[in-house]
Amino acid sequence: MDKEAGKKQAALEAVKYVERGMTLGLGTGSTAARFVEALAPLIAAGYALRGVPTSEATRRQAAVIGVEIIEPDETTVIDLAVDGTDEADPNLNLIKGGGAALLREKIVASAAKTFIVIADKSKRVAALGAFPLPVEIEPFGWALTVQAMRDTIAAAGLDASKLELRHREGAAVKSDGGHLIIDCALSRIEDPASLDTALKAIPGVIETGLFCGVADMVIYGDETGVSIDKP
Ligand code: 5RP
Repeated sequence: MDKEAGKKQAALEAVKYVERGMTLGLGTGSTAARFVEALAPLIAAGYALRGVPTSEATRRQAAVIGVEIIEPDETTVIDLAVDGTDEADPNLNLIKGGGAALLREKIVASAAKTFIVIADKSKRVAALGAFPLPVEIEPFGWALTVQAMRDTIAAAGLDASKLELRHREGAAVKSDGGHLIIDCALSRIEDPASLDTALKAIPGVIETGLFCGVADMVIYGDETGVSIDKP
């Protein structure tokens, strides 16, 4: 399958849900970037669009094409958020965070009136877990937090031996918020909502990449078109 064609097809389908004057939550990653690109013709056609980006990279991309970047306040209504995913199951549970933006992505997706996920078809899985679950944690005492995560993961009946601090070019990766990312290779997660709840009860865990009950639809693309999963 041509994954790039799939990302583009999914992004073009999601753009059909954008209306004039909307405030958009803008995701992070290569698929979300296809969606931001696809907004350019709407802006050229006179749509006034405001955006809440989930990363500095997305902020820069959206600003260049003319999306008005806003800092949300307590009156902000995000009409529609669109983002990519690392995995999605048929119940619309997701693993996100491959781009280390999971905390901001979950804040924005959860606040949005509608959250649409876009992906190439390779991201659809029967059960989550082949993609290592990213968990965003506080740098202070991070190794203690990892110990507690191992206990929680083992108590859930999952393999707790493959938790790794994410590195790039010899340095620990930090999210835009300055947090560390632990990638947890768990193979198969039977009950993602319970695991999310259990991990978030650990002091030091800021957010997990499990998005359960957040997505309103997942649009999958390939070179022939799109298919849509809804609840
Ligand atoms: C970033 C994310 C991305 O949406 C996810 O990693 C998918 O990225 P891509 O579209 O590049 O495959 O969660 O934190």
